[in-house]
Amino acid sequence: MSGQNNTSVIILAAGQGTRMKSTMPKVLHCVAGRPMLGHAMLLAGQVSPKNVAVVVGHGSDQVRTYLEEEKAQFSSYFLVEQTQQLGTGHAVQQAYPALIADSSSVASQYVIMCGDTPLLTTETISALVSYHQSEGATLTLLTTHLPDPTGYGRVLRETAGTVCRVVEDRDASFEEKQVSEINVGTYVVEAKFLEKALLQLLPQNAQGEYYLTDIIEMAVQEKQKVVAWITEDSLETTGVNTRVHLALAEKEMRRRICERLMLDGVTILDPERVMVDHQVTIGRDTVLYPGVVLEGQTHVGEHCTIRSNSRLTNSVVDRGVMILDACVLQEATVEEKAVIGPMAHLRPGSVIHRRAKVGNFVELKKTEVGEGSKVNHLSYLGDTWVGRNVNVGAGTITCNYDGYRKARTVIEDNVFIGSDVQLIAPVTIGAGALIAAGTTITENVPVDALGISRAQQTNIEGRAARRRAMLDSSVLPPNGQSSQVGEPPASSPISHAQHKSN
Ligand code: UD1
Ligand code: CA
Repeated sequence: MSGQNNTSVIILAAGQGTRMKSTMPKVLHCVAGRPMLGHAMLLAGQVSPKNVAVVVGHGSDQVRTYLEEEKAQFSSYFLVEQTQQLGTGHAVQQAYPALIADSSSVASQYVIMCGDTPLLTTETISALVSYHQSEGATLTLLTTHLPDPTGYGRVLRETAGTVCRVVEDRDASFEEKQVSEINVGTYVVEAKFLEKALLQLLPQNAQGEYYLTDIIEMAVQEKQKVVAWITEDSLETTGVNTRVHLALAEKEMRRRICERLMLDGVTILDPERVMVDHQVTIGRDTVLYPGVVLEGQTHVGEHCTIRSNSRLTNSVVDRGVMILDACVLQEATVEEKAVIGPMAHLRPGSVIHRRAKVGNFVELKKTEVGEGSKVNHLSYLGDTWVGRNVNVGAGTITCNYDGYRKARTVIEDNVFIGSDVQLIAPVTIGAGALIAAGTTITENVPVDALGISRAQQTNIEGRAARRRAMLDSSVLPPNGQSSQVGEPPASSPISHAQHKSN
């Protein structure tokens, strides 16, 4: 949005949000992975504001911390503390002096918005501001018609149709409650008028609060021009007061994100069952199956397939990667054409290089798997570096933790590790080495060596058959007589119980 740089924004975010029944301030509840306040801040940025004042109060420390952490995304802002939450009008009263303190950056108009309407779009704010300007209005409010306007302030108009005031649901008469046009809580107000009006607010209503909405009637009484911009998309104006509203907002935001991705060339088989956060980027011709969840700063390249019920958090996946069903990736990196899963868990610091495979029931932590290497079945590798073309056999476990410290395992290129091997770290397996199945490795294995630590196998001819005969004959007959065969009594731990249960 350009040409509106004589505007400052006031975001109201001090309320407790009692109806959320939460210990967290309402505006920090997330919609599609971003706190509602973050949505408001980004929207504010679209107005190219001179300044953004965020009115905080309830849980202000948490709000401050969040904004500080994410400030790179936002226009410059400052916080105003509203220590007692005496209403939306009171909140603006707190912000105003700070906004005019520096005469060099005083705005001629203010956009005022609530921190709890996360679905509002840039297009709508833009239209609201343009309408305000084209009408030469003193005050423009955003409104919409709702089939069920319960809980919202109703917009009352004169017979001629001009806006005369907004009445809160709690203060409304039966007739006023029938009005379907509601106040969204987003306004454009001329600075000169706002300054005067704020001084005149009085807490004369059901809640004993200073209502910002009272400035509408004041403007009308002063013969100032008050207009309303009615938005058609009533879902967009949803104010989140309860967790039921939060779920509605979440659903709509997810729908929008999926729609945007699909229009950008991503196939989403069932958009209602895929959850993608805002910042996630996905390349063309990638296919998402139902139940996929992509969170945080995740990037998925082109031509990838992510099968059902896999969750990727803050992970980077290059082009052509296949992630099979039910995988969890956290802060992991997967390079081109690698195959992950099904049911693999890549924990933070896992890096899977090109064409590598990490398969069924494999957990990796701070582990790098080299190009073309395979860790396909039932393994745990922690703090491990795996070179190229390595085969890690089924059930291989790195013992990387001795109860005090973590230690590293290095498996160099072209190593072949048989099944059911334990690697007690710190340990290095030299390039080209072979580790026999069932081995417990405690010492480094030289390049091209065979590492084996199995007890010698003994075969005793006929022993299994003799044992069977012994145990069969030792079973007590039903009358309680004991066995006639002169073998040792059937009191070994594997005798009676096993036979009886068979
Ligand atoms: C407000 C409007 C109502 C409108 C609705 C739209 C008023 C009096 N009412 O009602 O007409 O239909 O929004 O969603 O303005 N806040 C503060 N300080 C306070 C009180 C509130 O910063 O002392 C903030 C809240 O954090 C919230 C916003 O203002 O972000 C709106 O407050 P809320 O209590 O949710 O107002 P509603 O009852 O929804
Ligand atoms: Ca509200």
